Amino acid sequence: MNLISGRVFLQHAARDFRRTGAIAPSSRTLGYAMTSELGPHSLHPLRVLEVGGGTGSITEVIARRLAAGDRLDVYEIDRTFAALIRRRFRAKRRYQEAGVTIRIYNKPIESIERLPRYDFIVSCLPFTNFNANQVREIFEIYRDLLKPGGACSFYEYILVRRAAGLVRSTLERERVKSVARTVRQFTGRYCYKHNVVLRNLPPAIVYYVRFADGAVLPGSDDDV
Ligand SMILES: C[S@@+](CC[C@H](N)C(=O)[O-])C[C@H]1O[C@@H](n2cnc3c(N)ncnc32)[C@H](O)[C@@H]1O
Repeated sequence: MNLISGRVFLQHAARDFRRTGAIAPSSRTLGYAMTSELGPHSLHPLRVLEVGGGTGSITEVIARRLAAGDRLDVYEIDRTFAALIRRRFRAKRRYQEAGVTIRIYNKPIESIERLPRYDFIVSCLPFTNFNANQVREIFEIYRDLLKPGGACSFYEYILVRRAAGLVRSTLERERVKSVARTVRQFTGRYCYKHNVVLRNLPPAIVYYVRFADGAVLPGSDDDV
């Protein structure tokens, strides 16, 4: 991990943990797992979306898997993080020279135009910190953004949800349970593979999902 990125990440996590959702940038091992479906057998040109780029640790792994003509869009809500990723990639001319286009958008993913234009979505959002309605809306957005046959990977930290369930506030416990239910409904229906990654702080589980054409996301009326 790059020292500057690590420091900036930690400062932001301390200031706004709800949105940052982690104490350190993802490890390279988690990055490899999140992008394992972007293998040498992918049909290029690819259009890939990363949601929640942070300081760019997974962005870097995605970029390495891309080839001439491919395009990576990164949505990052935090201005400092977005600026940091932009700087990081401006300095690396090798992607431009290789014909890979990388665009960083300092915007929330909720503001994206919902057109099916991505082959793959790498979602790094901290769902455990959101509420169930937000999580469901984001899954809907991903479904709208994926081309037919497209796939999405996302991760959750192992045990973090259980730890969050120990908090005193009943409202907070209910929120966490409701998010867990929403994620479970979603993975139960669309997940075709998962991977446990122990070499990350904290360890994580990566889910890979693909929507059946015309599928409707499961709903719930017990959101917090
Ligand atoms: C857990 S961090 C992941 C950072 C990086 N991808 C990594 O794995 O190290 C989640 C990131 O999502 C960003 N984020 C949170 N809500 C967002 C939203 N609605 N739209 C876009 N980015 C968001 C946060 O600012 C943060 O950088």
